[in-house]
Amino acid sequence: MKTTAHRGLSSLAPENTIAAFELAVKQGAEWIEIDVQLSQEKVPVVIHDKTVNRCTNGSGAVAEMTIRQLKALDAGLWFGEAYRDECVPTLAETLLFAQRHHVKLNIELKVYKGDDIKLLCQQVKTVIEDVDVAPDQLLFSSFSTSALQQMQHIMPTVRRGQLWQKIPDNALSLLDDIEAYSVHCDYRFLDEATARTIKSKGYQLYCYTPNFPDLVADYWDWGVDMMITDVPQDYKVAS
Ligand code: G3P
Ligand code: MG
Repeated sequence: MKTTAHRGLSSLAPENTIAAFELAVKQGAEWIEIDVQLSQEKVPVVIHDKTVNRCTNGSGAVAEMTIRQLKALDAGLWFGEAYRDECVPTLAETLLFAQRHHVKLNIELKVYKGDDIKLLCQQVKTVIEDVDVAPDQLLFSSFSTSALQQMQHIMPTVRRGQLWQKIPDNALSLLDDIEAYSVHCDYRFLDEATARTIKSKGYQLYCYTPNFPDLVADYWDWGVDMMITDVPQDYKVAS
């Protein structure tokens, strides 16, 4: 059974930190999912929420904070004393980690209201090229079809996965337009017929974020390829 460590091994370490990525690698992860957005000076950073409030000891919008301000925050203490001094990683640091450990990255392009999608994509592309990561080590995903279209245009060699909570009726034409590799959907909204349709068209089908393997036991038979989960350690290893 294939899994992606969602935000790193986020059940055992603070999400989207190097500590969580290290634990994922230790646990044998082939894939890690991360969330990427831009700092005030347009540096891609790895953090999920629009603000730093939930996952750091600071407060404020990520997009309004400089790298220096973000790096000064503790991104581990909220999870547990053992993770004091973890910091918000940049995308560059995370790509270097992935290269060093031969782990693949599902880069989720986070787009919040008012974000400049073109700029986000351009900045992500620049960092990937600077670090010189092989395209087959990466997969872009986003709820924003525009972000995926932009990546299709400026970085066509990196695969693209469309994120949807529920797969819409017009999914196939949208997927065709962006030449998608994969569909990533909320497991709670997936049914067998839809799964089989997506698979019959040759797309990879991923589900987020099933944290109890029993809940999705049938989904493998439907053709689902990957579970993006906080608890990859609870799934049987792919044979
Ligand atoms: O990429 C799958 C999943 O991470 C999408 O939702 O909110 O956890 O980023 P979210
Ligand atoms: Mg995500």
